[in-house]
Amino acid sequence: MSVTTLPDELSEPARAFAGREHELLIDGAHAPAADGRTFETLDPATARPITTVAQAGPEDVDRAVQAARRALENGPWRSLSAADRGRAISRLAGLIEDSADELAELEALDNGKPVKLAKLVDVASSVAHFHHFAGWPERTFGETIPVRQPDMLCYTRKEPVGVCGQIIPWNFPLLMAAWKLGPALAAGCTVVLKPAEQTPLSALRLGELALEAGMPPGVLNVITGDGETGAALVDHPGVDKIAFTGSTAVGRDIGSKTGRALKRVTLELGGKSPNIILPDADLDAAVKGSFQAIYYNTGQACNAGSRLFIHRDQFDDVVASLAARARKTRVGRGLDPATQLGPVVSAEQHERVLSYIEAGRQEGAELVAGGGAGEGEGGYFVEPTLFTATDDSLTISREEIFGPVLVAMPFQSLEEVAARANDSEYGLAAGVWTRDVGSAHRLAALLKAGSVYVNCWAASDPGAPFGGYKASGLGREHGREGLEAYLETKTVWTSLA
Ligand code: NAI
Ligand code: MG
Repeated sequence: MSVTTLPDELSEPARAFAGREHELLIDGAHAPAADGRTFETLDPATARPITTVAQAGPEDVDRAVQAARRALENGPWRSLSAADRGRAISRLAGLIEDSADELAELEALDNGKPVKLAKLVDVASSVAHFHHFAGWPERTFGETIPVRQPDMLCYTRKEPVGVCGQIIPWNFPLLMAAWKLGPALAAGCTVVLKPAEQTPLSALRLGELALEAGMPPGVLNVITGDGETGAALVDHPGVDKIAFTGSTAVGRDIGSKTGRALKRVTLELGGKSPNIILPDADLDAAVKGSFQAIYYNTGQACNAGSRLFIHRDQFDDVVASLAARARKTRVGRGLDPATQLGPVVSAEQHERVLSYIEAGRQEGAELVAGGGAGEGEGGYFVEPTLFTATDDSLTISREEIFGPVLVAMPFQSLEEVAARANDSEYGLAAGVWTRDVGSAHRLAALLKAGSVYVNCWAASDPGAPFGGYKASGLGREHGREGLEAYLETKTVWTSLA
Protein backbone atom coordinates (compact mmCIF):
# COMPACT_ATOMS: atom_id res chain seq x y z
CA MET A 1 0.00 0.00 0.00
CA SER A 2 1.45 3.34 -0.99
CA VAL A 3 1.64 5.67 1.98
CA THR A 4 0.25 9.06 1.12
CA THR A 5 -0.66 11.90 3.41
CA LEU A 6 -4.14 13.08 2.62
CA PRO A 7 -5.12 16.65 3.55
CA ASP A 8 -6.53 17.19 7.07
CA GLU A 9 -9.73 18.82 5.83
CA LEU A 10 -11.09 15.59 4.33
CA SER A 11 -14.09 14.02 6.04
CA GLU A 12 -13.92 10.32 6.93
CA PRO A 13 -15.89 9.03 3.91
CA ALA A 14 -13.80 11.05 1.43
CA ARG A 15 -10.56 10.06 3.17
CA ALA A 16 -11.50 6.38 3.14
CA PHE A 17 -12.44 6.43 -0.55
CA ALA A 18 -9.49 8.55 -1.72
CA GLY A 19 -7.02 6.40 0.23
CA ARG A 20 -8.10 3.15 -1.42
CA GLU A 21 -6.07 1.60 -4.24
CA HIS A 22 -8.62 1.78 -7.02
CA GLU A 23 -9.57 -0.96 -9.42
CA LEU A 24 -11.75 -0.98 -12.51
CA LEU A 25 -15.51 -1.41 -12.12
CA ILE A 26 -16.67 -3.95 -14.71
CA ASP A 27 -19.91 -5.94 -14.66
CA GLY A 28 -20.66 -4.83 -11.11
CA ALA A 29 -17.35 -5.96 -9.64
CA HIS A 30 -13.99 -4.38 -8.88
CA ALA A 31 -11.03 -5.85 -10.73
CA PRO A 32 -7.42 -4.89 -11.39
CA ALA A 33 -6.25 -4.30 -14.97
CA ALA A 34 -5.56 -7.57 -16.79
CA ASP A 35 -1.88 -6.68 -17.13
CA GLY A 36 -1.70 -5.26 -13.58
CA ARG A 37 -0.80 -1.74 -14.69
CA THR A 38 -1.65 1.22 -12.44
CA PHE A 39 -1.07 4.97 -12.43
CA GLU A 40 -1.08 7.65 -9.76
CA THR A 41 -3.64 10.39 -9.46
CA LEU A 42 -2.23 13.61 -8.00
CA ASP A 43 -3.46 16.43 -5.82
CA PRO A 44 -2.87 19.50 -8.04
CA ALA A 45 -2.60 21.74 -4.97
CA THR A 46 0.56 19.95 -3.82
CA ALA A 47 1.63 17.83 -6.82
CA ARG A 48 1.69 14.87 -4.41
CA PRO A 49 0.10 11.50 -5.23
CA ILE A 50 -3.31 10.73 -3.73
CA THR A 51 -3.43 7.02 -4.55
CA THR A 52 -3.03 4.49 -7.37
CA VAL A 53 -5.67 3.65 -9.94
CA ALA A 54 -5.87 0.74 -12.41
CA GLN A 55 -4.82 1.50 -15.98
CA ALA A 56 -7.24 -0.32 -18.28
CA GLY A 57 -5.73 -1.89 -21.41
CA PRO A 58 -7.47 -3.28 -24.53
CA GLU A 59 -8.34 -6.55 -22.75
CA ASP A 60 -10.13 -4.65 -19.97
CA VAL A 61 -11.90 -2.42 -22.49
CA ASP A 62 -13.09 -5.56 -24.25
CA ARG A 63 -14.38 -7.08 -20.99
CA ALA A 64 -16.22 -3.87 -20.13
CA VAL A 65 -17.79 -3.61 -23.60
CA GLN A 66 -18.91 -7.24 -23.42
CA ALA A 67 -20.44 -6.68 -19.97
CA ALA A 68 -22.28 -3.64 -21.32
CA ARG A 69 -23.48 -5.68 -24.33
CA ARG A 70 -24.83 -8.46 -22.11
CA ALA A 71 -26.60 -5.95 -19.87
CA LEU A 72 -28.09 -4.30 -22.94
CA GLU A 73 -29.33 -7.42 -24.66
CA ASN A 74 -30.13 -10.04 -22.06
CA GLY A 75 -30.13 -8.41 -18.70
CA PRO A 76 -32.86 -7.08 -16.46
CA TRP A 77 -32.09 -3.55 -17.69
CA ARG A 78 -33.76 -4.33 -20.99
CA SER A 79 -36.91 -5.75 -19.42
CA LEU A 80 -37.29 -2.91 -16.91
CA SER A 81 -40.34 -0.74 -17.58
CA ALA A 82 -39.73 2.86 -18.57
CA ALA A 83 -41.10 3.93 -15.19
CA ASP A 84 -38.72 1.67 -13.30
CA ARG A 85 -35.78 2.86 -15.37
CA GLY A 86 -36.72 6.41 -14.43
CA ARG A 87 -36.95 5.41 -10.78
CA ALA A 88 -33.46 3.87 -10.84
CA ILE A 89 -32.08 7.13 -12.27
CA SER A 90 -33.94 9.07 -9.53
CA ARG A 91 -32.44 6.83 -6.86
CA LEU A 92 -28.99 7.55 -8.28
CA ALA A 93 -29.73 11.30 -8.06
CA GLY A 94 -30.76 10.82 -4.42
CA LEU A 95 -27.61 8.88 -3.55
CA ILE A 96 -25.41 11.57 -5.13
CA GLU A 97 -27.24 14.17 -3.07
CA ASP A 98 -26.72 12.11 0.09
CA SER A 99 -22.99 11.87 -0.72
CA ALA A 100 -22.67 15.54 -1.69
CA ASP A 101 -19.94 16.40 0.83
CA GLU A 102 -17.88 13.33 0.06
CA LEU A 103 -18.13 13.85 -3.71
CA ALA A 104 -17.34 17.58 -3.44
CA GLU A 105 -14.25 16.80 -1.37
CA LEU A 106 -13.10 14.12 -3.81
CA GLU A 107 -13.52 16.61 -6.65
CA ALA A 108 -11.62 19.33 -4.75
CA LEU A 109 -8.83 16.88 -3.95
CA ASP A 110 -8.46 15.34 -7.41
CA ASN A 111 -9.16 18.39 -9.59
CA GLY A 112 -8.05 21.20 -7.26
CA LYS A 113 -11.24 23.28 -7.44
CA PRO A 114 -12.70 25.05 -4.38
CA VAL A 115 -14.79 22.58 -2.41
CA LYS A 116 -17.66 25.07 -2.16
CA LEU A 117 -17.81 25.37 -5.94
CA ALA A 118 -17.64 21.59 -6.29
CA LYS A 119 -20.65 21.20 -4.03
CA LEU A 120 -22.73 24.08 -5.44
CA VAL A 121 -21.99 23.46 -9.09
CA ASP A 122 -20.53 20.04 -9.84
CA VAL A 123 -22.51 17.96 -7.36
CA ALA A 124 -25.76 19.97 -7.34
CA SER A 125 -25.91 20.14 -11.15
CA SER A 126 -25.19 16.41 -11.41
CA VAL A 127 -28.15 15.75 -9.13
CA ALA A 128 -30.31 18.07 -11.26
CA HIS A 129 -29.25 16.25 -14.42
CA PHE A 130 -30.17 12.83 -13.14
CA HIS A 131 -33.50 14.13 -11.82
CA HIS A 132 -34.24 15.71 -15.20
CA PHE A 133 -33.38 12.59 -17.17
CA ALA A 134 -35.26 10.37 -14.72
CA GLY A 135 -38.41 11.96 -16.19
CA TRP A 136 -37.59 11.09 -19.82
CA PRO A 137 -38.12 7.30 -20.03
CA GLU A 138 -41.86 7.67 -19.46
CA ARG A 139 -42.02 10.55 -21.93
CA THR A 140 -40.03 8.92 -24.74
CA PHE A 141 -42.14 7.31 -27.44
CA GLY A 142 -42.63 7.11 -31.18
CA GLU A 143 -45.45 8.30 -33.40
CA THR A 144 -48.16 6.84 -35.57
CA ILE A 145 -47.70 8.15 -39.14
CA PRO A 146 -50.76 8.82 -41.33
CA VAL A 147 -49.20 7.16 -44.42
CA ARG A 148 -50.75 7.26 -47.93
CA GLN A 149 -51.25 3.53 -48.35
CA PRO A 150 -54.68 2.35 -47.28
CA ASP A 151 -54.89 -0.48 -44.74
CA MET A 152 -51.40 0.16 -43.43
CA LEU A 153 -50.37 0.81 -39.84
CA CYS A 154 -47.09 2.72 -39.66
CA TYR A 155 -45.53 3.67 -36.37
CA THR A 156 -42.09 4.49 -34.98
CA ARG A 157 -40.34 3.10 -31.93
CA LYS A 158 -37.57 4.87 -30.05
CA GLU A 159 -34.88 2.36 -29.14
CA PRO A 160 -31.59 2.72 -27.27
CA VAL A 161 -28.65 3.28 -29.61
CA GLY A 162 -26.76 0.51 -27.79
CA VAL A 163 -23.45 0.29 -25.94
CA CYS A 164 -22.03 3.77 -25.37
CA GLY A 165 -18.39 4.68 -24.80
CA GLN A 166 -18.25 7.93 -22.85
CA ILE A 167 -14.94 9.77 -22.52
CA ILE A 168 -14.83 12.45 -19.85
CA PRO A 169 -12.48 15.40 -19.26
CA TRP A 170 -10.94 16.55 -15.98
CA ASN A 171 -12.40 20.05 -15.61
CA PHE A 172 -15.82 18.97 -14.26
CA PRO A 173 -15.23 15.25 -13.77
CA LEU A 174 -18.48 14.26 -12.03
CA LEU A 175 -20.68 16.73 -13.88
CA MET A 176 -19.45 15.80 -17.36
CA ALA A 177 -20.08 12.15 -16.48
CA ALA A 178 -23.61 13.09 -15.33
CA TRP A 179 -24.25 15.05 -18.55
CA LYS A 180 -23.46 11.95 -20.58
CA LEU A 181 -24.90 9.26 -18.33
CA GLY A 182 -28.28 10.91 -17.73
CA PRO A 183 -29.53 10.68 -21.33
CA ALA A 184 -27.78 7.34 -22.00
CA LEU A 185 -29.47 5.65 -19.04
CA ALA A 186 -32.80 7.34 -19.76
CA ALA A 187 -32.66 5.97 -23.32
CA GLY A 188 -32.00 2.46 -21.99
CA CYS A 189 -28.39 2.29 -23.23
CA THR A 190 -25.52 0.72 -21.32
CA VAL A 191 -22.24 2.51 -20.78
CA VAL A 192 -18.50 2.13 -20.56
CA LEU A 193 -17.35 5.34 -18.90
CA LYS A 194 -13.75 6.49 -19.05
CA PRO A 195 -12.90 9.39 -16.75
CA ALA A 196 -9.80 11.50 -17.39
CA GLU A 197 -6.54 10.14 -16.02
CA GLN A 198 -6.05 13.34 -14.01
CA THR A 199 -9.37 12.97 -12.12
CA PRO A 200 -10.63 9.37 -11.91
CA LEU A 201 -11.98 9.33 -8.35
CA SER A 202 -15.49 10.78 -8.58
CA ALA A 203 -16.44 8.58 -11.57
CA LEU A 204 -15.35 5.48 -9.66
CA ARG A 205 -17.54 6.55 -6.75
CA LEU A 206 -20.39 7.27 -9.15
CA GLY A 207 -20.10 3.71 -10.53
CA GLU A 208 -20.56 2.33 -7.01
CA LEU A 209 -23.55 4.58 -6.38
CA ALA A 210 -25.20 3.37 -9.60
CA LEU A 211 -24.98 -0.21 -8.34
CA GLU A 212 -26.37 0.89 -4.98
CA ALA A 213 -29.23 2.59 -6.84
CA GLY A 214 -30.15 -0.80 -8.30
CA MET A 215 -28.71 -0.44 -11.80
CA PRO A 216 -27.93 -4.01 -12.88
CA PRO A 217 -24.25 -5.02 -13.23
CA GLY A 218 -22.85 -4.07 -16.64
CA VAL A 219 -25.16 -1.09 -17.13
CA LEU A 220 -22.43 1.32 -16.01
CA ASN A 221 -18.83 0.13 -16.22
CA VAL A 222 -16.04 2.50 -15.20
CA ILE A 223 -12.63 1.97 -16.75
CA THR A 224 -9.81 4.25 -15.70
CA GLY A 225 -6.83 5.05 -17.88
CA ASP A 226 -5.38 7.62 -20.24
CA GLY A 227 -5.76 8.45 -23.94
CA GLU A 228 -4.70 4.93 -24.94
CA THR A 229 -7.61 3.51 -22.97
CA GLY A 230 -9.90 6.08 -24.57
CA ALA A 231 -8.63 5.19 -28.05
CA ALA A 232 -9.19 1.47 -27.39
CA LEU A 233 -12.77 2.27 -26.43
CA VAL A 234 -13.31 4.34 -29.60
CA ASP A 235 -11.82 1.56 -31.74
CA HIS A 236 -13.80 -1.29 -30.16
CA PRO A 237 -16.26 -2.69 -32.72
CA GLY A 238 -18.76 -3.51 -29.98
CA VAL A 239 -19.32 0.17 -29.14
CA ASP A 240 -22.29 1.74 -30.95
CA LYS A 241 -21.86 5.35 -29.89
CA ILE A 242 -19.07 7.55 -28.58
CA ALA A 243 -19.67 10.67 -26.53
CA PHE A 244 -16.60 12.80 -25.89
CA THR A 245 -15.76 16.05 -24.16
CA GLY A 246 -12.20 17.30 -24.41
CA SER A 247 -9.69 18.87 -26.74
CA THR A 248 -10.51 19.72 -30.35
CA ALA A 249 -7.45 17.75 -31.52
CA VAL A 250 -8.64 14.50 -29.94
CA GLY A 251 -12.22 15.29 -30.97
CA ARG A 252 -11.17 15.50 -34.63
CA ASP A 253 -9.40 12.16 -34.31
CA ILE A 254 -12.43 10.51 -32.71
CA GLY A 255 -14.73 12.09 -35.31
CA SER A 256 -12.71 10.66 -38.17
CA LYS A 257 -12.59 7.17 -36.62
CA THR A 258 -16.30 7.09 -35.78
CA GLY A 259 -17.00 8.45 -39.25
CA ARG A 260 -15.19 5.57 -40.89
CA ALA A 261 -16.81 3.00 -38.59
CA LEU A 262 -20.19 4.75 -38.95
CA LYS A 263 -20.64 4.84 -35.20
CA ARG A 264 -22.85 7.45 -33.63
CA VAL A 265 -20.87 10.30 -32.09
CA THR A 266 -21.33 13.50 -30.11
CA LEU A 267 -18.38 15.80 -29.49
CA GLU A 268 -18.14 18.71 -27.09
CA LEU A 269 -14.85 20.46 -27.78
CA GLY A 270 -12.89 23.62 -27.24
CA GLY A 271 -13.81 27.27 -27.38
CA LYS A 272 -12.49 30.81 -27.49
CA SER A 273 -15.72 32.45 -26.56
CA PRO A 274 -16.25 36.18 -27.15
CA ASN A 275 -17.88 38.28 -24.44
CA ILE A 276 -19.07 41.73 -25.55
CA ILE A 277 -19.76 44.72 -23.29
CA LEU A 278 -21.83 47.31 -25.19
CA PRO A 279 -21.62 50.98 -24.13
CA ASP A 280 -25.10 50.98 -22.55
CA ALA A 281 -24.45 47.96 -20.30
CA ASP A 282 -24.86 47.93 -16.51
CA LEU A 283 -21.11 48.10 -16.01
CA ASP A 284 -21.04 46.71 -12.47
CA ALA A 285 -22.95 43.63 -13.53
CA ALA A 286 -20.87 43.32 -16.71
CA VAL A 287 -17.57 43.47 -14.78
CA LYS A 288 -18.71 40.93 -12.19
CA GLY A 289 -20.13 38.59 -14.83
CA SER A 290 -17.17 38.92 -17.18
CA PHE A 291 -14.76 38.22 -14.33
CA GLN A 292 -16.61 35.02 -13.46
CA ALA A 293 -16.91 34.15 -17.15
CA ILE A 294 -13.16 33.67 -17.44
CA TYR A 295 -11.78 32.96 -13.96
CA TYR A 296 -14.47 30.56 -12.75
CA ASN A 297 -12.99 27.06 -12.29
CA THR A 298 -9.55 28.64 -12.90
CA GLY A 299 -10.45 29.24 -16.54
CA GLN A 300 -10.84 25.51 -17.14
CA ALA A 301 -14.26 25.64 -18.74
CA CYS A 302 -15.01 24.88 -22.38
CA ASN A 303 -17.34 27.90 -22.46
CA ALA A 304 -14.98 30.30 -20.65
CA GLY A 305 -15.42 33.90 -21.83
CA SER A 306 -11.79 34.26 -22.84
CA ARG A 307 -12.01 37.10 -25.39
CA LEU A 308 -13.50 40.24 -23.88
CA PHE A 309 -14.60 43.02 -26.23
CA ILE A 310 -15.18 46.33 -24.43
CA HIS A 311 -16.45 49.52 -26.12
CA ARG A 312 -13.51 51.89 -26.44
CA ASP A 313 -15.23 54.62 -24.37
CA GLN A 314 -15.35 52.36 -21.31
CA PHE A 315 -12.28 50.29 -22.04
CA ASP A 316 -9.92 51.78 -19.45
CA ASP A 317 -12.52 51.80 -16.65
CA VAL A 318 -13.63 48.21 -17.20
CA VAL A 319 -10.05 46.95 -17.47
CA ALA A 320 -9.13 48.77 -14.24
CA SER A 321 -12.10 47.19 -12.39
CA LEU A 322 -11.26 43.71 -13.65
CA ALA A 323 -7.61 44.11 -12.71
CA ALA A 324 -8.53 45.28 -9.19
CA ARG A 325 -10.71 42.19 -8.74
CA ALA A 326 -8.00 39.89 -10.09
CA ARG A 327 -5.46 41.28 -7.61
CA LYS A 328 -7.86 40.66 -4.68
CA THR A 329 -8.62 37.05 -5.63
CA ARG A 330 -7.43 34.43 -3.15
CA VAL A 331 -5.56 31.69 -5.01
CA GLY A 332 -5.02 28.49 -3.04
CA ARG A 333 -5.84 24.88 -2.28
CA GLY A 334 -9.36 23.81 -3.15
CA LEU A 335 -9.88 22.25 0.27
CA ASP A 336 -9.10 25.56 2.02
CA PRO A 337 -12.53 27.18 2.49
CA ALA A 338 -11.05 30.66 1.90
CA THR A 339 -9.86 29.78 -1.61
CA GLN A 340 -11.54 31.48 -4.57
CA LEU A 341 -9.27 30.19 -7.34
CA GLY A 342 -7.75 26.71 -7.18
CA PRO A 343 -4.70 25.45 -9.09
CA VAL A 344 -4.89 24.20 -12.67
CA VAL A 345 -5.19 20.44 -12.91
CA SER A 346 -1.72 19.16 -13.81
CA ALA A 347 1.92 19.96 -14.48
CA GLU A 348 1.17 19.72 -18.20
CA GLN A 349 -1.65 22.28 -18.02
CA HIS A 350 0.46 24.50 -15.74
CA GLU A 351 3.24 24.58 -18.28
CA ARG A 352 0.79 25.10 -21.15
CA VAL A 353 -0.98 28.05 -19.48
CA LEU A 354 2.30 29.71 -18.42
CA SER A 355 3.67 29.32 -21.94
CA TYR A 356 0.58 31.10 -23.34
CA ILE A 357 1.22 33.94 -20.86
CA GLU A 358 4.78 34.09 -22.13
CA ALA A 359 3.54 34.16 -25.74
CA GLY A 360 1.23 37.06 -24.83
CA ARG A 361 4.18 39.03 -23.48
CA GLN A 362 6.42 38.16 -26.43
CA GLU A 363 3.83 39.13 -29.03
CA GLY A 364 3.30 42.54 -27.45
CA ALA A 365 0.06 42.26 -25.48
CA GLU A 366 0.06 44.43 -22.36
CA LEU A 367 0.01 42.52 -19.07
CA VAL A 368 -2.30 44.37 -16.68
CA ALA A 369 -2.67 41.86 -13.83
CA GLY A 370 -1.21 38.52 -12.72
CA GLY A 371 1.07 36.66 -15.10
CA GLY A 372 2.87 34.63 -12.47
CA ALA A 373 2.68 31.11 -11.13
CA GLY A 374 1.82 32.26 -7.63
CA GLU A 375 3.27 30.27 -4.77
CA GLY A 376 2.39 27.44 -2.46
CA GLU A 377 3.57 23.89 -1.77
CA GLY A 378 4.63 23.01 -5.29
CA GLY A 379 1.03 23.07 -6.57
CA TYR A 380 0.02 24.10 -10.08
CA PHE A 381 -1.07 27.65 -9.31
CA VAL A 382 -1.52 30.45 -11.83
CA GLU A 383 -2.50 34.00 -10.88
CA PRO A 384 -5.63 35.40 -12.50
CA THR A 385 -4.09 37.10 -15.50
CA LEU A 386 -5.37 39.97 -17.62
CA PHE A 387 -3.93 41.19 -20.91
CA THR A 388 -5.06 44.02 -23.15
CA ALA A 389 -4.45 43.93 -26.89
CA THR A 390 -5.51 45.69 -30.07
CA ASP A 391 -4.47 42.91 -32.44
CA ASP A 392 -6.96 40.03 -32.85
CA SER A 393 -4.33 37.81 -34.42
CA LEU A 394 -2.19 37.26 -31.32
CA THR A 395 -1.83 33.64 -30.16
CA ILE A 396 -3.59 34.47 -26.87
CA SER A 397 -6.51 36.01 -28.78
CA ARG A 398 -7.01 32.97 -31.01
CA GLU A 399 -6.07 29.76 -29.18
CA GLU A 400 -7.87 28.11 -26.30
CA ILE A 401 -5.71 28.63 -23.19
CA PHE A 402 -7.90 26.77 -20.69
CA GLY A 403 -6.51 28.70 -17.75
CA PRO A 404 -7.19 31.96 -15.87
CA VAL A 405 -6.04 34.21 -18.71
CA LEU A 406 -8.24 36.92 -20.24
CA VAL A 407 -7.47 39.14 -23.21
CA ALA A 408 -9.46 42.38 -23.41
CA MET A 409 -9.81 44.26 -26.72
CA PRO A 410 -11.51 47.57 -27.55
CA PHE A 411 -14.20 47.95 -30.26
CA GLN A 412 -16.26 50.74 -31.77
CA SER A 413 -19.42 49.45 -33.46
CA LEU A 414 -21.82 46.55 -33.11
CA GLU A 415 -21.32 45.23 -36.67
CA GLU A 416 -17.55 45.43 -36.26
CA VAL A 417 -17.56 43.53 -32.97
CA ALA A 418 -19.91 40.84 -34.31
CA ALA A 419 -17.53 40.16 -37.21
CA ARG A 420 -14.50 40.08 -34.92
CA ALA A 421 -16.28 37.83 -32.41
CA ASN A 422 -17.13 35.37 -35.19
CA ASP A 423 -13.61 35.36 -36.61
CA SER A 424 -12.63 32.16 -34.80
CA GLU A 425 -12.50 28.47 -35.63
CA TYR A 426 -14.61 27.92 -32.51
CA GLY A 427 -18.27 28.62 -31.78
CA LEU A 428 -19.24 27.29 -28.38
CA ALA A 429 -20.55 30.34 -26.51
CA ALA A 430 -20.80 34.12 -26.71
CA GLY A 431 -22.03 36.83 -24.39
CA VAL A 432 -23.55 40.29 -24.65
CA TRP A 433 -23.94 42.88 -21.89
CA THR A 434 -26.43 45.62 -22.77
CA ARG A 435 -29.64 47.29 -21.54
CA ASP A 436 -30.95 47.58 -25.10
CA VAL A 437 -33.25 44.73 -26.16
CA GLY A 438 -32.70 45.44 -29.84
CA SER A 439 -28.88 45.25 -29.65
CA ALA A 440 -29.10 42.15 -27.46
CA HIS A 441 -31.14 40.17 -29.93
CA ARG A 442 -29.47 41.55 -33.04
CA LEU A 443 -26.19 40.24 -31.64
CA ALA A 444 -27.78 37.01 -30.42
CA ALA A 445 -28.77 36.32 -34.03
CA LEU A 446 -25.42 37.40 -35.51
CA LEU A 447 -23.10 35.47 -33.19
CA LYS A 448 -22.08 32.03 -34.46
CA ALA A 449 -22.18 30.12 -31.18
CA GLY A 450 -24.14 27.26 -29.66
CA SER A 451 -25.07 29.34 -26.60
CA VAL A 452 -25.52 33.11 -26.33
CA TYR A 453 -25.70 34.64 -22.86
CA VAL A 454 -27.36 38.05 -22.50
CA ASN A 455 -26.50 39.86 -19.25
CA CYS A 456 -25.27 36.61 -17.73
CA TRP A 457 -22.63 33.97 -18.42
CA ALA A 458 -22.68 30.17 -18.48
CA ALA A 459 -26.34 29.88 -17.49
CA SER A 460 -27.18 26.18 -17.71
CA ASP A 461 -30.08 23.84 -17.27
CA PRO A 462 -30.48 20.10 -17.88
CA GLY A 463 -33.33 20.91 -20.28
CA ALA A 464 -31.54 23.60 -22.35
CA PRO A 465 -29.40 22.40 -25.30
CA PHE A 466 -25.64 22.91 -25.03
CA GLY A 467 -23.02 22.34 -27.71
CA GLY A 468 -20.88 23.93 -30.35
CA TYR A 469 -20.90 25.48 -33.80
CA LYS A 470 -17.85 24.90 -36.02
CA ALA A 471 -14.79 23.28 -34.36
CA SER A 472 -16.48 23.43 -30.94
CA GLY A 473 -18.27 20.17 -31.54
CA LEU A 474 -20.95 18.01 -33.03
CA GLY A 475 -24.45 17.53 -31.64
CA ARG A 476 -26.05 18.89 -28.49
CA GLU A 477 -26.26 17.71 -24.91
CA HIS A 478 -29.15 18.25 -22.45
CA GLY A 479 -32.91 18.00 -22.83
CA ARG A 480 -34.71 16.40 -25.74
CA GLU A 481 -31.87 16.97 -28.23
CA GLY A 482 -29.42 15.42 -25.80
CA LEU A 483 -31.65 12.39 -25.38
CA GLU A 484 -32.14 11.95 -29.15
CA ALA A 485 -28.39 11.36 -29.50
CA TYR A 486 -28.89 8.12 -27.54
CA LEU A 487 -31.91 6.87 -29.51
CA GLU A 488 -32.46 5.11 -32.82
CA THR A 489 -35.78 5.48 -34.63
CA LYS A 490 -37.33 2.29 -35.97
CA THR A 491 -40.26 2.50 -38.41
CA VAL A 492 -42.68 -0.43 -38.27
CA TRP A 493 -45.04 -1.11 -41.20
CA THR A 494 -47.98 -3.49 -40.80
CA SER A 495 -50.36 -4.35 -43.62
CA LEU A 496 -53.89 -4.52 -42.28
CA ALA A 497 -55.34 -5.72 -45.59
P1 NAI B 1 -7.74 15.45 -24.01
O1 NAI B 1 -8.71 15.73 -25.09
O2 NAI B 1 -6.49 14.73 -24.37
O3 NAI B 1 -8.46 14.58 -22.85
C1 NAI B 1 -9.83 14.49 -22.63
C2 NAI B 1 -10.22 13.02 -22.44
O4 NAI B 1 -9.94 12.30 -23.63
C3 NAI B 1 -9.48 12.28 -21.34
O5 NAI B 1 -10.34 11.35 -20.74
C4 NAI B 1 -8.38 11.55 -22.11
O6 NAI B 1 -7.88 10.41 -21.45
C5 NAI B 1 -9.11 11.17 -23.37
N1 NAI B 1 -8.25 10.95 -24.54
C6 NAI B 1 -7.05 11.51 -24.82
N2 NAI B 1 -6.59 11.08 -26.02
C7 NAI B 1 -7.53 10.25 -26.52
C8 NAI B 1 -7.65 9.50 -27.73
N3 NAI B 1 -6.70 9.54 -28.68
N4 NAI B 1 -8.77 8.76 -27.93
C9 NAI B 1 -9.74 8.73 -27.00
N5 NAI B 1 -9.68 9.40 -25.83
C10 NAI B 1 -8.59 10.16 -25.60
O7 NAI B 1 -7.40 16.81 -23.32
P2 NAI B 1 -6.13 17.18 -22.39
O8 NAI B 1 -4.87 16.77 -23.07
O9 NAI B 1 -6.35 16.67 -21.03
O10 NAI B 1 -6.22 18.76 -22.37
C11 NAI B 1 -5.68 19.51 -23.45
C12 NAI B 1 -6.54 20.68 -23.81
O11 NAI B 1 -7.82 20.22 -24.20
C13 NAI B 1 -6.82 21.66 -22.69
O12 NAI B 1 -5.79 22.60 -22.55
C14 NAI B 1 -8.09 22.29 -23.19
O13 NAI B 1 -7.78 23.30 -24.12
C15 NAI B 1 -8.81 21.18 -23.90
N6 NAI B 1 -9.85 20.56 -23.06
C16 NAI B 1 -11.15 20.94 -23.27
C17 NAI B 1 -12.15 20.46 -22.47
C18 NAI B 1 -13.55 20.87 -22.68
O14 NAI B 1 -14.32 20.92 -21.73
N7 NAI B 1 -13.97 21.14 -23.90
C19 NAI B 1 -11.87 19.56 -21.34
C20 NAI B 1 -10.47 19.17 -21.23
C21 NAI B 1 -9.52 19.68 -22.06
MG1 MG C 1 -5.79 14.02 -9.81
